[in-house]
Amino acid sequence: MMRSMREQDIPAVLELHRKYIPEALFPLLGDDFMTRFYRSLVRSPLGVHFVFERESGEVAGFISAATDSGALYRQLLAENFVPFFMAALRFLLRRPGKLGECLDTLLYPARVGGDGIDAELLFISVEKDLRGTSLATEFVARVMEEFSRQGVSKAKVTTHDFNKGARKILEANGFSLKREIRFRSKSVYLFTYGE
Ligand SMILES: CC(C)(COP(=O)(O)OP(=O)(O)OC[C@H]1O[C@@H](n2cnc3c(N)ncnc32)[C@H](O)[C@@H]1OP(=O)(O)O)[C@@H](O)C(=O)NCCC(=O)NCCS
Repeated sequence: MMRSMREQDIPAVLELHRKYIPEALFPLLGDDFMTRFYRSLVRSPLGVHFVFERESGEVAGFISAATDSGALYRQLLAENFVPFFMAALRFLLRRPGKLGECLDTLLYPARVGGDGIDAELLFISVEKDLRGTSLATEFVARVMEEFSRQGVSKAKVTTHDFNKGARKILEANGFSLKREIRFRSKSVYLFTYGE
């Protein structure tokens, strides 16, 4: 069953995020950081989020998005400035080599641009045994329905070039590739909807 994410789902969502989206910086910043992020997302009127709950009650997939991701991140930072600063500091003391990646993440919205589009798909993750069942395609469709219900007609998302699965799911939902952005040695693709 697909339903909105609730605060009590956050530990399971964190697990799915950590396990299957490890390349993003978020998991490296620790559970406290991620819990605050998802709590803000669930509480904020800007957040759009769904989970897939198995009959057993286990949460086995999720999608997170926002009608205005920039505003969501600003709100998140304003509410959690000290703990986020401490999490970043602890992380950088442990792994000083990651400073460049942290700066990239901070500068990421400015570099990607997004062409004046506020709504954004943020993260999606599906448990391995459920992959290939169109669950992710359905997650994106549900987010797009919710965006449309709220009068949002344009959206954006970035994916890593190696993420063929994410690309397919986006294209199946009417997104098209806008441009490639180079980050150090990596490529990131900006997809947009409704342009
Ligand atoms: C990406 C992901 C969410 C796709 O979930 P899913 O439920 O398997 O997706 P769907 O079943 O809706 O697949 C839609 C299409 O994409 C294809 N596809 C899915 N994952 C793929 C992959 N890794 N490589 C190539 N094709 C893939 C499916 O075969 C299907 O193709 P079809 O329509 O021609 O049959 C899932 O693989 C996942 O959780 N990956 C790890 C997390 C991640 O990378 N998230 C994206 C960045 S935030």
